[in-house]
Amino acid sequence: MEETKSREKFSSGLAVFFATLGSAVGLGNIWKFPYLTGQYGGGAFLLVYFCCILFVGLPIMLGEFYIGRKARKNAVGALKQLKPGTSWKNIGIMGVGAAYMIMFFYSCVAGWVYFYLFKAISGDFIGITMETAKAQFGSVIMGPISPIIWQFIVMAVVASILAMGVKQGIEKITKTLMPLLFVLIIICDIRALTLPGAAEGVTFLFHVDFNQLTAAAILTALGLAFFKLSLGMGTMITYGSYFTEDNNMFGTAVKVALSDTLVSMLAGLAIFPTVFSFGMEPGAGPGLLFMTIPLVFSQMPFGSFLLVAFFFLTAIAATTAMLSLVEVPVAYWSEERGMPRKKAAVVNAVIIAVIGVLATLSVDKASMLGNITFFGMGFFDFFDYISSNILLPLGGLFIALMMGYAIKREEVVMELSNNGKLKIAKLVSVYFFLIRYVTPLLLIVVFLNSIGILKF
Ligand code: PHE
Repeated sequence: MEETKSREKFSSGLAVFFATLGSAVGLGNIWKFPYLTGQYGGGAFLLVYFCCILFVGLPIMLGEFYIGRKARKNAVGALKQLKPGTSWKNIGIMGVGAAYMIMFFYSCVAGWVYFYLFKAISGDFIGITMETAKAQFGSVIMGPISPIIWQFIVMAVVASILAMGVKQGIEKITKTLMPLLFVLIIICDIRALTLPGAAEGVTFLFHVDFNQLTAAAILTALGLAFFKLSLGMGTMITYGSYFTEDNNMFGTAVKVALSDTLVSMLAGLAIFPTVFSFGMEPGAGPGLLFMTIPLVFSQMPFGSFLLVAFFFLTAIAATTAMLSLVEVPVAYWSEERGMPRKKAAVVNAVIIAVIGVLATLSVDKASMLGNITFFGMGFFDFFDYISSNILLPLGGLFIALMMGYAIKREEVVMELSNNGKLKIAKLVSVYFFLIRYVTPLLLIVVFLNSIGILKF
């Protein structure tokens, strides 16, 4: 109980927005969104992704905000408090598991970003060509020792920030650096869009060809929507628990989803024109970002300096997203299991770093670890697939069911309207229609489609 009283909060409405955006914007926008859009054929994938954000992501985000702010507890504690003695708390436990799974591979990619920052500072990309861009990426991820060291550095940074428990710090960092990242991506867009042959990249991104759409693409777009908006695993419950009382949570959810999608689109507009201009493959996979960005910057004045800035800001965005990921198990261990917060931060970071090494080493397909597969996937892809495509949407489905059927409508109305202060009667009706029928149905249909039970 005292815990509830002394619990930190974000300092204002603006801080709520930026902190939440700090969780949403990360490698998902800059690394994952472009490479998946490239792999799954562009426009049609994008369209499905937008629908997932609108009809699935937004309602679930609002549900998580509700649960978090109402209970003012970590994900598991919040579910226990709102539905005592029931199994709903297991959504939170599953979320803690999903957070680990994501971190195992996220910390690896964040390590590549830190490494690229270091290389950009050392001037390693001067005079880069398409061939050397590919070779550089290959040597960064194959290490084998250096990517592990960078992954450990990443986890040390995350653990130290979390151990200090600095909500205010996260707010300040995102408030100043997020807009800078935004501006830098726009500069990148301008250069990329004026490269010879850029138009082909734009066409690729926006041309909708439904023949490209497979069941796997639809499930991936859904998983990406969850991953992007940090949903289905309790991050937004935990963040909601730090929201101010007067925050308009409808407004926050819409603003966060829109801004996040905008950042992803801008990243896509920097990457695809470059891919086509240099004759690269849009479906090149996880290396897409790392191979194209140094090339765009090599084509502009002050390119070497701006490249450093780009990787610096991307490293920050990845770090704030990781803080929100690791916050889920840390808050769980410290609030539910009584482990001191500092210890929880360090123990979790060590677990993630150690198991994360499996993901990092599995990238080299010729190595011993690279040959171990589960359902045809190596460690890296397996961690990603299980978390993004299964655990997060499943967590989301349960949250939708809980919001739609297990919690009293009047209570939700009171909380979302800030005890009647906001006039949101119409919005609430739309909300309940979505969360009761549309969101769960879509989730179930996509699941059934992906395992082949339902074909369309
Ligand atoms: N949304 C983050 C990104 O796009 C990743 C993330 C997923 C963060 C789930 C928290 C929870 O990079």
